[in-house]
Amino acid sequence: MRPFWYRNAVIYQIDPTLFRDHDGDGCGDLRGVTERLDYVRGLGATAIWLMPFYRSPFEDAGYDVSDHLQVDPRFGDLADVVNLLEKAEELGLHVIIELVVQHTSIEHRWFQEARRDRHSPFRDYYLWADEPDDSIEPIFPTIEDSVWTWDEEAGQYYRHLFYKHEPDLNLANPRVVEEIERIMAFWLRLGVSGFRVDAASHLIEQAGEGDSAKGYWLLEHFRDFVSLRRPEAVLLGEVDVEPEHYADYFGDGDRLTLLLNFWANNHYFLALARSDASPLTRSLTEQPTPPRRAQYATWIRNHDELDLERLTEEEREEVMQAFAPDPDMRAYNRGIRRRLAPMLEGDEHRLAMAHALLFSLPGTPIIRYGEEIGMGEDLSRPERLAVRTPMQWSNEVNAGFSCAETARLVVEPIDEGPFSYRTLNVYAQTLRDDSLLAKTGNMIRSRIGLREIGEGKACPVDVGVPSVFAIRHDADSTVLMLVNLADEEVTVEIHDKDLEQLVDILADSDYEQPEGHPLRLRLSGYGYRWLRCKQQLFG
Ligand code: BGC
Repeated sequence: MRPFWYRNAVIYQIDPTLFRDHDGDGCGDLRGVTERLDYVRGLGATAIWLMPFYRSPFEDAGYDVSDHLQVDPRFGDLADVVNLLEKAEELGLHVIIELVVQHTSIEHRWFQEARRDRHSPFRDYYLWADEPDDSIEPIFPTIEDSVWTWDEEAGQYYRHLFYKHEPDLNLANPRVVEEIERIMAFWLRLGVSGFRVDAASHLIEQAGEGDSAKGYWLLEHFRDFVSLRRPEAVLLGEVDVEPEHYADYFGDGDRLTLLLNFWANNHYFLALARSDASPLTRSLTEQPTPPRRAQYATWIRNHDELDLERLTEEEREEVMQAFAPDPDMRAYNRGIRRRLAPMLEGDEHRLAMAHALLFSLPGTPIIRYGEEIGMGEDLSRPERLAVRTPMQWSNEVNAGFSCAETARLVVEPIDEGPFSYRTLNVYAQTLRDDSLLAKTGNMIRSRIGLREIGEGKACPVDVGVPSVFAIRHDADSTVLMLVNLADEEVTVEIHDKDLEQLVDILADSDYEQPEGHPLRLRLSGYGYRWLRCKQQLFG
């Protein structure tokens, strides 16, 4: 496998609980994922990001790990992981799994040993105090009052940035780092192509004993560790911090390989809310350029709330007003607990445009299961769970997700309103060549063919129409991508001399061949056009 595969890749994010239930017990499983890898490959994706499948009491969707080296029985066993990896390899799909080491579950053996005995070597695996220090804000302020909880058995307070059932690991302890090495070595040996580093910014802070600036050694250490064992292995880091710190997370290309870019993500939504490309364009020019051996990862919606903390208060309010007018659509005083499709009122043209916009951005795009068909949310479920509903495969019972009795399902599929699985599902969209699924698949496959994006240099182009996002990607050849964020037709002018001979590669409809001087290009409302220089097409 090539070490730089991630430069030109599309990652498909899968929640094993909700993707496909193979054994009919009501919960998705690894065999179910394996069974549907053909679908993912058919869509054009080249990698999957598999969310937690480790042993866990499941109070935080498996991010509360109680044994990092075991598969939770609900998902199957280790042989199922091997089987999944073999099938993925056969299809040419890389597999990225989660490295959740900011905290463990309270049920983890390490914590059980630690709380039992002050002198146990496990005591120092966690963070303890005799008095709580309330200077740190909990990550879920509406759920937890403090990051410290008294533990009767331990006779001390333990720290937990997230939930009280997720005690924080002490990453400044070399023994904890050794444990993490064992975890990484184990899964790398089985054949994974890297890790999504959960809560990476908090890891750094703890590795630096409260001072992030002193904690980056941990990322360098992890990167060395993984790439010495498997040169193609990547670290995809969750880094929701101000963009001026991004450069620290990249280092000289020796820290994170891929950085989940919340800054661009927030400005993407501001641009959508305003039907004006400039906030997004500006965010791209303001963010640091990644070093040669690293890249940004971009996405629209993930499994969490749409956290809008990278916007100013007014901007955040603007996006909230546009996409989450009802307070019930919001979470944790900072975000939106909705999927993209309902935010855009299920408008397939606008949704296709939104996908075209994601795939036009520099970096590695990630698409979460169900986005390709425009799945909805279930606001009757609490907090982030609203966006975690089963994949809608067909209009058969339980959306084709599971053959268990509906009452036994981990989560019931959406079966009311315009996003019900009865009408909105993979099968129904497979039958229509103008469906969102068809359009998204075309975009993903075309995008993989446009190596300029992954390997070249990206530069916004001024086309003089605020609603149009325009960007060129230059490598040996050039691609120009235009996306109209508004619903009115527009015509843009291209003045760049070297962009005079363009042909469409992919567009929302048939457009006349661009011509004239300057070059004039029409875009329908919510239209998009990806073009390449003519002589480079078959040259
Ligand atoms: C995950 C969340 C999870 C949290 C705690 C985040 O990175 O995306 O879903 O609740 O980590 O592990």
